[in-house]
Amino acid sequence: MFKSVVYSVLAASLVNAGTIPLGKMADIAKIGTQEDIIPFLGGSGPYFSFPGDYGISRDLPEGCEMKQLHMFARHGERYPTFSKGATLLKTWYKLSNYTGTYNGSLSFLNDDYEFFIRHHDDLEMETTLANSDDVLNPYTGEMDSKRHAREFLAQYGYMLENKTSFPVFAASSERVHDTAQYFIDGLGDQFNISLQTVSEAMSAGANTLSAANSCPAWDGDAFDDILSQYDTTYLDDIAKRLNKENKGLNLTSTDSDNLFAWCAYELNARGYSDVCDIFTKDELVRYSYGQDLVSFYQDGPGYDMIKSVGANLFNATLKLMKQSEMHDLKVWMNFLHDCDILNYLTTVGIIDDKNTLTADHVSFMNNTYRKSWYVPQGARFYTEKFQCSNDTYVRYVINDAVVPLESCSTGPGFSCEINDFYDYAEKRVAGTDFLKVCNVSSVSNVTELTFYWDWNTTHYNDTLLKQ
Ligand SMILES: *[C@@H]1O[C@H](CO)[C@@H](O)[C@H](O)[C@H]1NC(C)=O
Ligand SMILES: *[C@@H]1O[C@H](CO)[C@@H](O)[C@H](O)[C@H]1NC(C)=O
Ligand SMILES: *[C@@H]1O[C@H](CO)[C@@H](O)[C@H](O)[C@H]1NC(C)=O
Ligand SMILES: *[C@@H]1O[C@H](CO)[C@@H](O)[C@H](O)[C@H]1NC(C)=O
Ligand SMILES: *[C@@H]1O[C@H](CO)[C@@H](O)[C@H](O)[C@H]1NC(C)=O
Ligand SMILES: *[C@@H]1O[C@H](CO)[C@@H](O)[C@H](O)[C@H]1NC(C)=O
Ligand SMILES: *[C@@H]1O[C@H](CO)[C@@H](O)[C@H](O)[C@H]1NC(C)=O
Ligand SMILES: *[C@@H]1O[C@H](CO)[C@@H](O)[C@H](O)[C@H]1NC(C)=O
Ligand SMILES: *[C@@H]1O[C@H](CO)[C@@H](O)[C@H](O)[C@H]1NC(C)=O
Ligand SMILES: *[C@@H]1O[C@H](CO)[C@@H](O)[C@H](O)[C@H]1NC(C)=O
Ligand SMILES: *[C@@H]1O[C@H](CO)[C@@H](O)[C@H](O)[C@H]1NC(C)=O
Ligand SMILES: *[C@@H]1O[C@H](CO)[C@@H](O)[C@H](O)[C@H]1NC(C)=O
Repeated sequence: MFKSVVYSVLAASLVNAGTIPLGKMADIAKIGTQEDIIPFLGGSGPYFSFPGDYGISRDLPEGCEMKQLHMFARHGERYPTFSKGATLLKTWYKLSNYTGTYNGSLSFLNDDYEFFIRHHDDLEMETTLANSDDVLNPYTGEMDSKRHAREFLAQYGYMLENKTSFPVFAASSERVHDTAQYFIDGLGDQFNISLQTVSEAMSAGANTLSAANSCPAWDGDAFDDILSQYDTTYLDDIAKRLNKENKGLNLTSTDSDNLFAWCAYELNARGYSDVCDIFTKDELVRYSYGQDLVSFYQDGPGYDMIKSVGANLFNATLKLMKQSEMHDLKVWMNFLHDCDILNYLTTVGIIDDKNTLTADHVSFMNNTYRKSWYVPQGARFYTEKFQCSNDTYVRYVINDAVVPLESCSTGPGFSCEINDFYDYAEKRVAGTDFLKVCNVSSVSNVTELTFYWDWNTTHYNDTLLKQ
């Protein structure tokens, strides 16, 4: 597996030899050795399959026929955002201005280390073969999306047999759009695909894949009283350790926190990161739980508003499901952001909302909310609607694993019988009200999600945003 990755990246590099910085032979020994760390990086690092796989076959159960498929995919591996990039740069300046010789886990900085963000223009964007720091980088958002397209064809290609012209929907973030375009390129030119770029600006109101952006009432600080209780002395400990090893260095807990993000994004851009080796395993566990907590209370089941935000898109996809016989199109592909996926899955209830995460200590048994398991870079989930004999069923596939609905999984392949599913869904969305809960009318007059039904007359081609 590793050899073939190196080979294919090398082959591609020949084409772009002029623009890609060369790697060192030593990189071959490092790339691929840090995959155990990736699940602890809060979803900022490269894609990995859902570790909670129950072993259920992904194959369509025997004798069944796929009726409709929804795909929702996060953008791929990327560089940091503008704001994260600015924060990381502060830590980098501290380190690069240090005049001593580095000792201990920072000593890699003595060896002509080049900061992984080389161009301001790369911020907010996918990592690609062309903008990677190392020719051997196997984790580009570009290749991840193209590989996903090939996996899609292997798994579901038969669904496109009689339908070569179809739309793909993408939120209007540039990296999301680019990911969709890489996916389309990966499918191959036998298809005639119309990429519909649906606004993710506030003014989009309800007609969006990214309802949280049209939710002025959403407040990221709403649960600060809980989040501030989480013990972050591990960050002080990291700073103290590095300062002790390197006399005169003045790192703070904020720098320690930045180093985790540096590790994640450098993996995306370079294929390995010496920064990842600074942390002990316990520190990675503490950081990871901290990421779960923030996400749980901002974009997940810990925030009651989220069910209403996620219901905007979930309701629309329920409608598509109920209309499957009248739609010529059987495959509905969408590209969006991690929080959009988390909002949706929270409404579905496939993310456990019985256990409230505590900030009092690192919870183990009660923590079924691993942010990185659901939304690594390049995350993807599918809703499958299939018919077996006279009955129809629904199930979810999250990051390559079938994840059943706990209370509705007696169908083939641990699926949920369609009428039971509709009852279940009705209960989940009862009482949700996106427009009211979010105070949408203060930013937009658009009260309905219509793009699935009017795309071919409207032609969504919204201005791309770096956000
Ligand atoms: C040293 O830090 C300053 C900001 O404090 C920054 O402008 C400068 O570029 C840094 N030097 C290097 C070599 O990074
Ligand atoms: C494609 O069309 C053929 C011939 O009409 C039919 O047998 C087959 O089931 C169709 N495939 C799909 C996925 O609809
Ligand atoms: C490609 O799809 C567009 C609609 O998006 C359609 O107008 C056009 O006729 C299609 N072209 C081919 C060759 O199928
Ligand atoms: C390097 O760090 C170790 C561990 O803290 C310390 O024992 C040693 O004295 C340091 N060496 C230098 C040159 O600072
Ligand atoms: C660290 O802080 C001390 C005391 O504030 C200061 O004297 C020293 O110059 C600082 N070192 C660096 C590398 O910034
Ligand atoms: C686990 O969650 C349950 C239900 O929310 C709660 O009653 C229990 O106290 C939690 N246990 C721990 C160790 O947090
Ligand atoms: C499927 O439905 C038809 C019509 O209602 C019925 O005749 C047939 O027996 C059913 N088949 C099975 C396997 O239940
Ligand atoms: C979703 O649809 C249900 C009816 O099935 C409705 O009660 C609920 O208000 C809708 N929620 C949103 C956010 O549109
Ligand atoms: C809704 O928006 C209006 C206009 O911006 C504002 O006055 C009002 O306080 C908001 N209401 C809520 C519940 O956020
Ligand atoms: C909503 O529509 C009204 C009437 O057309 C208009 O005055 C108002 O500015 C619009 N509000 C927003 C947020 O677009
Ligand atoms: C739009 O879609 C409808 C139904 O799928 C189809 O009948 C119609 O021809 C399409 N219009 C255009 C302009 O592609
Ligand atoms: C969207 O609009 C831009 C600028 O007008 C154009 O270059 C691009 O081809 C359009 N894309 C689609 C999918 O229509």
